Amino acid sequence: MNRQPIGVFDSGLGGLTAVKELISLLPNENIIYLGDTARVPYGTKSHDTILRYAKEDISFLKTQDVKLIIVACGTVSSALSVEPINDIDIPIISVVKPAAKAAINKSRNNKIGVIGTPATVKNGCYERTIKEFSDAEVFSKACTLFVPLVEAGHFGENDPLATLAAEEYLPEFKEKGVDTLILGCTHYPLLSDVIKKILPNTELINSGAETAKEAKELLEKNNLLNDSTSEGTLKCFVTDNIEGFNDNAFRFLGKDFKQSAELTRL
Ligand code: DGL
Repeated sequence: MNRQPIGVFDSGLGGLTAVKELISLLPNENIIYLGDTARVPYGTKSHDTILRYAKEDISFLKTQDVKLIIVACGTVSSALSVEPINDIDIPIISVVKPAAKAAINKSRNNKIGVIGTPATVKNGCYERTIKEFSDAEVFSKACTLFVPLVEAGHFGENDPLATLAAEEYLPEFKEKGVDTLILGCTHYPLLSDVIKKILPNTELINSGAETAKEAKELLEKNNLLNDSTSEGTLKCFVTDNIEGFNDNAFRFLGKDFKQSAELTRL
C-alpha cells in the first residue's frame, strides 16, 4: 500500500481525459496533474524539443514525490517510444501501448486507424506497436487543427469549425474500411461526437482512458494502491493561463473543477 500521489502530465488540458478515467477507477488515489500550458501544443514541435519538455515535466512531477508517472500525452509518449528516459526510479507509463492493445482487441476486420498530432503520426509509434502484437493494417493521419480547436473550446457536436476539420481529416478512414480508430491524442475524446458524425460505425479508442486502466493494473500488481477510504484529491499545476485551465477543466473531467490550478515554472 502506498499513499503517495500519482503524477500525470500533458502539454495542456488533454491529459485530464486520462485523469477522468483514473478518478473513476481509483477514487481514493491522490493525483497531481501538470499541464504545460505555456508551451502547448507539443505536437507541432521537433522530436528533440518534445523530449526536452518531457524531461522537464517529469522532473517537476518527481519533486511532488509521486509513486507513478502517467504520460497522458500521445505526443510525448511517441517520442519516449523511440528514446525512453531510463534514469527515472519510479514507474512510468505512456499511452501508446495500452491504446494499441485495446484497438487490436476491438477490431474485427484488422483495419485500425490512428489519428494524432503531426509529431505522433510522423513518429510511427502506433504502426510499430500494433505490428508487434498483430498483423493488422494501420492507417494514420495527423489532425493538426484538432488540438488548437479543442483548447479554444471548439468541440461541441455541432461546432462548425470542428465539423469542418473533421470532414477534412476523417472520410478516408471510411474509404479504407477502418473499423477501429485510435484517438492517439488525449485531447481528441472531446471531439468524439464530431468524429462519430463522420464515422458512425467506427469504434473509438480513448488512449488516456486505456492508460488509466493500465495504471490501475500496475498499482495493483506492485501493491502500490492507496488504502485510504476517503476520496482522493486532484491538484493541478499549469505553466501559464490558469484561468483558461480553470474554466475548461470541467469539460475534460466530466465534473466540476472547484480547486484552482496553481502556477509553476519548469
Ligand atoms: N494531448 C496531447 C497529445 O496527446 C496534445 C499534443 C499537443 O500539445 O500538441 O498528443
